[in-house]
Amino acid sequence: MASWARIRLLWRWAVVLCGVAALLTIQLNALFAEYKKVSSLMALQSPLLSIQELDQVEYLTLLPPLGLKHPQTINLNHEFLNQSSPARSLFFPSSWYGTLDPTNTNTNATTRFFLPEKIWLDTAGNPIQAHGGGILFDHKSATYFWYGEYKNGNTNLAESTGTARVDVIGVACYSSKDLWAWKFEGIVLASHPSATHDLHKSNVLERPKVIYNEKTNKFVMWMHVDDATYSKAAVGVAISDHPTGPFTYVRGTRPNGFDSRDMTVFKDEDDGAAYLIYASARNKEMHISRLSDDYMEVENVTVRALIGMHREAPAVFKHGGVYYMVTSGCSGWLPNEALVHEAESMLGTWETIGNPCVGANKEYRAATFFSQGSFVLPMPGGGGGDRGLFIFMADRWNPANLRDSRYMWLPLTVKAKFERYGQFPLWSKVAIFWHERWRAPIKDNGETYYVSKPFMAGDDL
Ligand code: DGJ
Repeated sequence: MASWARIRLLWRWAVVLCGVAALLTIQLNALFAEYKKVSSLMALQSPLLSIQELDQVEYLTLLPPLGLKHPQTINLNHEFLNQSSPARSLFFPSSWYGTLDPTNTNTNATTRFFLPEKIWLDTAGNPIQAHGGGILFDHKSATYFWYGEYKNGNTNLAESTGTARVDVIGVACYSSKDLWAWKFEGIVLASHPSATHDLHKSNVLERPKVIYNEKTNKFVMWMHVDDATYSKAAVGVAISDHPTGPFTYVRGTRPNGFDSRDMTVFKDEDDGAAYLIYASARNKEMHISRLSDDYMEVENVTVRALIGMHREAPAVFKHGGVYYMVTSGCSGWLPNEALVHEAESMLGTWETIGNPCVGANKEYRAATFFSQGSFVLPMPGGGGGDRGLFIFMADRWNPANLRDSRYMWLPLTVKAKFERYGQFPLWSKVAIFWHERWRAPIKDNGETYYVSKPFMAGDDL
């Protein structure tokens, strides 16, 4: 009997011990899984440099995220496309991995980093909604205004094409003195209730850009207007007396009768001439037309560039008397390789000089760091366009939830060598540098760009 009692006791202990072991295994597994997740994301955040030289090459080493066992076999493009991939959080990190947060009172001028891929909050603590956007610097108020697509609505699939879309809500405007802390100024051009209006919510309003006309003292907005199947292919123009609107929609049109999809406008600060640049011929070529003196009409001359190249998302800037354009390929919301083109005059001839992306890793470089360009802004404090320092603004689109698309701002540099008497560079190199985090420089000492104090709007522009 005594031995039966002992066996029963031992049996009970065995059951208890098995239970404890099972619980421990579960806990350890969870801990290990968490460790793997954190370690893979730590790798993404490395190196944690305090000040990142803008034109240093920074590599990105990715450890396999949870559930992906062999790093060599990971195809990042495949993981980006697969919306249920455990790697999605690498591309769209949650706020746990840091935000650009101007409401954080511990943030001072020396810690105002740009954090590509991270959530960017406005001064009220809401995620910024200014996709496909562009920036205007208003000299009178020494303020930057960022205009972009307000996409804070549900993402649905368009019935006929299956393309991800958000109903038109309008164009958002944000203001800032330092390009880092942005105040929401409201929706400055809203959708229209009439079903026949270009801006009805069932349509498409993309890539708004605003330029200021000194002659008329008006702010002029150009944008891509379309129907949900992208077959209308037109541009819209709107006007306002103030940078913060409200803007009045004037008309939508096909420039000189040509179809027009992704577009931008470029104002040449040297002579005040402005241009509309738009993907045309079903995206097979890029067209460039000068705008009228009041920037409200498209002039009757169209230059066809990049013929047969299938490029979109044009972003134009000027350095050393030469015009540069960054474009993407055409693959819907999915990223692809950027190219830079250059020309002596906006009206051509445009030559292609190659992929500007530097650093990170091969797949990131071949996919514009998994983003698509929207605008190039002269870097304040770095001598603006004169020194060849710019900010490349891009969108990392999230077609599963377009409102959660991220802003990828990265430093862009231009280095060029001119022939002795030539206007056009003998060679030029445009580079967009990958950085996990970086700050815009206030000064340079001629050789090295560095950050010593915060820059303010208008510094050294
Ligand atoms: C790529 C364009 O650049 C975006 O602005 C948007 O039109 C998407 N295509 C839609 O698929």
